[in-house]
Amino acid sequence: MSKIDWKQVEQWNNEYVIKCFLKQSEYGTMFIESTEGDYLIDADGKRWLDFYNQLYCVNAGQKVPEVQQAIKDATDRYGFVWDIYTTDYKAEAAKMIVKDILGDKGWASQVRFTLGGGDSVEVASLIARLYTNKNLIATREHAYHGVSSGAVSFTTTPASRNNAVTEEYGKSLEVPGADFQGSFMCPAPFCYRCSLGHTYPECKCVHADGTLPCVKQTEAVIRSHNVNRVAAIITEPAFGAGTIMPPKEYLPQIQDMKNRLGILWIMDEVLMGWGRLGEWFGHQLYGDIKPDIMTTAKGISSSSLPLGAVIVNEKVAKFLAEIRWNHVSTFSGHPIPVAAAVANMKYLIKNDAPGHCKKAGEYFGQELLALEEKHSSIGLVAGAGMFWQVELVKNRETKEPFIADDRYLTFAGDQSKYPVHIIADKCAEKGVLLGGFVPNTLRIGASCMVEKADMDKAINAMDYALTYLETQF
Ligand SMILES: Cc1ncc(COP(=O)(O)O)c(C=O)c1O
Repeated sequence: MSKIDWKQVEQWNNEYVIKCFLKQSEYGTMFIESTEGDYLIDADGKRWLDFYNQLYCVNAGQKVPEVQQAIKDATDRYGFVWDIYTTDYKAEAAKMIVKDILGDKGWASQVRFTLGGGDSVEVASLIARLYTNKNLIATREHAYHGVSSGAVSFTTTPASRNNAVTEEYGKSLEVPGADFQGSFMCPAPFCYRCSLGHTYPECKCVHADGTLPCVKQTEAVIRSHNVNRVAAIITEPAFGAGTIMPPKEYLPQIQDMKNRLGILWIMDEVLMGWGRLGEWFGHQLYGDIKPDIMTTAKGISSSSLPLGAVIVNEKVAKFLAEIRWNHVSTFSGHPIPVAAAVANMKYLIKNDAPGHCKKAGEYFGQELLALEEKHSSIGLVAGAGMFWQVELVKNRETKEPFIADDRYLTFAGDQSKYPVHIIADKCAEKGVLLGGFVPNTLRIGASCMVEKADMDKAINAMDYALTYLETQF
């Protein structure tokens, strides 16, 4: 029996808390009393299997004892000291990222800690602009890089741009002034619905040298903005909110392009880092990739405490070392979150979280492909580790989506017909939390340490939910 007065909590929550995504009257709050491994435990003691991994950010699983202990020990030593001072935790966390985790990759040099993912993107873009003394940054369709003013300028999924769906359903308001501030958009490597009208892998034959048309077009767009004005290109290794797994040629070809053009590459690893794709960082799945600047957050502490980081290569680190950079945020390098990160990294290393996640993904991917065989509403299964994209379609041959606006939707109107919501509701009947951000696409993944029995439970729930979905359309 819970000691918490959940009725009181409900009343305070209704009265005093600003809600996100839904208006107050639509809000169906789930009251979570505790968390454990891959589970949330609600106010009635019911255990929910979490295949959202919250926001794909609890990479080690919930409440790892070593991390909990490290946080307790750190709070015994510190209240707070700001970034001008040095703590052993901050120095060790930076050393671990550069040496122990990225050491053999030959590019990472120094780390600056931030407050989270969006803040990392702010700092990374600021560094790129300072270093190059250029303003423009290339982003891509379907990208998500955060909601703060700089980060949102690189975010191109309309539903993620802080917009508000107003009282008259069907109308979505952009925040006035929240424009694309010095960024411009290039095509996404979204082969299933290529905005350039190509089909993969045949598109590799379009150009004699095998360059993908989306990469060629990216170069053309950058050149047409005048490459001398372009500081960097920013990419997610796989698209988290946009939920797209790029083809294997894409990142290596972007690397060739950016080297040729002499622009910087910001790799946004906020969601795909820390084992999520079965490698320490998502870009490592694509071979010998060397970003100039990398952003991270979420899995750095397995979200036990809020933290982000920006990692830069040697030439950028040298530049930063030689300027007086007037840049601080009160909480950057806060000793307690970086202590959590040190313990979390030790745990991930000791338990080979990327290796575990890679194997789990091999099994889970096979099970998803078996579901694809059985269910005609699945048009595509793609992914790795604990990040999977499952496209839901009315017609597999024509790829007709259930919701025509697909990734351009702003979440206006009746959401009850979104296939991902129908699947989410049916999976919830089986005690599994699983769904997606864009209306036709399931985005699935548990922690990197997920167990086989839990993957089976998620697959069974999806089987049940897909069967239901197919009776509804
Ligand atoms: C790729 C990417 N960048 C940035 C962010 C923003 O991170 P945060 O929500 O911690 O600000 C996210 C969040 O999901 C993300 O997926």
